[in-house]
Amino acid sequence: MPATRTQVGIVGAGPAGLLLGQVLANAGIDSVVIEAQSRAYVESRVRAGLMEHDACQQMRDAGVGARMDREGLVHEGIILRFGGTSHRIPLTELSGGRQVRVYGQQEVVKDLIAARLAAGLPLHFEAHGTSITGIDTPRPVIAYRHQGQDHQLECDIVAGCDGFHGISRAAMPADVLKVFERVYPFGWLGILADAAPASHELIYASHDHGFSLLSMRSPTVSRLYLQCAPDEDLSEWPDSRIWDELETRLADDQGFRLTRGPITQKGITPLRSFVAEPLRHGTLFLLGDAAHIVPPTGAKGLNLAFADVHVLGHALIDRYRTGSNAGLDTYSATALRRVWKAERFSWWLTTLMHRFDSHSPFERRMQLAELDYLTTSRAGMTTIAENYVGLPLL
Ligand code: FAD
Ligand code: DHB
Repeated sequence: MPATRTQVGIVGAGPAGLLLGQVLANAGIDSVVIEAQSRAYVESRVRAGLMEHDACQQMRDAGVGARMDREGLVHEGIILRFGGTSHRIPLTELSGGRQVRVYGQQEVVKDLIAARLAAGLPLHFEAHGTSITGIDTPRPVIAYRHQGQDHQLECDIVAGCDGFHGISRAAMPADVLKVFERVYPFGWLGILADAAPASHELIYASHDHGFSLLSMRSPTVSRLYLQCAPDEDLSEWPDSRIWDELETRLADDQGFRLTRGPITQKGITPLRSFVAEPLRHGTLFLLGDAAHIVPPTGAKGLNLAFADVHVLGHALIDRYRTGSNAGLDTYSATALRRVWKAERFSWWLTTLMHRFDSHSPFERRMQLAELDYLTTSRAGMTTIAENYVGLPLL
């Protein structure tokens, strides 16, 4: 069986694995990335779209920020809409000048893949990780299958960046891992449409029918979401029904109208909060969705994966430059502090903005009163702004 050696073996070429590979390459540390899917598949997977201030800086620092800076859309505020009225949260003004940027996750992934391949660094697509062994030793091994052949990759460190359904979290000893989880009684139906966004700023709307969100990918492409049942049947949602329901939930007292256009992509995402602790056992480290999931409200998923890379990247650079394991030893505790704060914000915003069938009219009034308070208090708006643009990476 062919065996190779590297310093850091990275399982998964999502945002976490690819950015980590780039950060390590810039510091002269070898890595090999294996990815179960094809390049075309990972480059076309429509997912997150909003990057925090520091996540944009991480792209620039890694030397892959040029297209994001050219094509990404800078946002300095968001709209919260409820009871038919709009309330703007001036993010930049309330966060000491920080901005967020709309730049699709698949664009982030394309830029990172292009940089890695241009540098001639190993990135194997359709290479399916099958096991991670020896994590209690200084020589862990990733076994994978590529082009019909079994391979072994011997490493110093394994970075598990293989998402929620990957093999890395499962490779942690069951008696070590603690899991914290909440599954929400709803999902999001998301669409991409060739239609100019009807608002320059994102609109988060709380309506008696349920939550909806207007976002975008470019000046000609809209990205919109509707709260739906977790097991919603997409075939019951012809395009006209989706647009009508979005129109109802996003309506305001100023005659807001959506711009409609051909829907080019549709999908349903279930909503959950999930954290696995610790993020490290021996020589295996977990990053991104492999370790934690947030409900999408507030767009923290991709940003949290990037924040993990920041912490582990520095720790690995330290280890290879100075021989110190101090950063690796504190990785889990350091990353988890920020993870839990992002979990809190995503859970809170989800709970505040969605319709819960179990809610009494009293609880709905409480949601509306909280929204009214938040949007009329500078302290309330500031708490939204500082979480939305992103808490400090460390
Ligand atoms: P991933 O992007 O999941 O990457 C993991 C990679 O590992 C994948 O490419 C996978 O193919 C690969 N892999 C898995 N198993 C193996 C294996 N055995 N061997 C080799 N490779 C493997 N976040 C938001 O903020 N806003 C959104 O609107 C939003 N929408 C989403 C919609 C969907 C359908 C999903 C699933 C997620 C969404 N997210 C959203 C979350 C966000 O996209 C994730 O948080 C982000 O992708 C995390 O990056 P990651 O690199 O940790 O994991
Ligand atoms: C997007 C997704 C989100 O969950 C969010 O809060 C903001 C934007 C998006 O896909 O554009």
